[in-house]
Amino acid sequence: MKRIAIFASGSGSNAEKIADYFAGSADVSIELIVSNNPKAGVIDRARRYHIPVVLFDRTTFYQTDHITRLLQQQNIDLIVLAGFMWLMPGGLVQAFPDRIVNIHPALLPKFGGKGMYGHFVHEAVVAAGETESGITIHFVNEHYDEGAPIFQARCPVTPTDTPDDVARKVQVLEHEHYPRVVADVLATLPDRTA
Ligand code: GAR
Repeated sequence: MKRIAIFASGSGSNAEKIADYFAGSADVSIELIVSNNPKAGVIDRARRYHIPVVLFDRTTFYQTDHITRLLQQQNIDLIVLAGFMWLMPGGLVQAFPDRIVNIHPALLPKFGGKGMYGHFVHEAVVAAGETESGITIHFVNEHYDEGAPIFQARCPVTPTDTPDDVARKVQVLEHEHYPRVVADVLATLPDRTA
């Protein structure tokens, strides 16, 4: 059995797609949803799926190893960031080498880095007059959006598209691909508990 922890700060639509994908699986379980935002939509979604939620604040995350130890105690195999906006602390990255993945709503290395998240990304894509956007799924290191890429998918951006239009197209790609790519990454991982 491979065990996933999902980190999310927002609405949680990607977290829900991943929970749907693995529902009833004998091989993969979503053990935890971890969030810094007690008001996040993902919390309600977690409750509906009976997935335990762990909430933390900035001090706990950056000044203690509480979250790292919790994930180790739960024998988490893979950490999946799904709309999680804080930088991963170094200790957590080192404890889970090549075991943290993120989805970014643009074609990295374009439109990544600090402050480039959610709607800001789609606004920047439109402002730059891009003719395409998409998603990047990548491993996570200690820098925003710089870990090794795993998968990209593209969508066209037309001259009349608004940031909301681009967001909708990108979200379709996210929901279509993220759960399957997570499954592919899991399949390559040795069992931590073995
Ligand atoms: C997604 O579009 C994801 O790519 C983005 O946040 C959104 C979360 O949506 N992540 C980032 O911008 C990370 N830099 P969701 O809460 O509905 O899954």
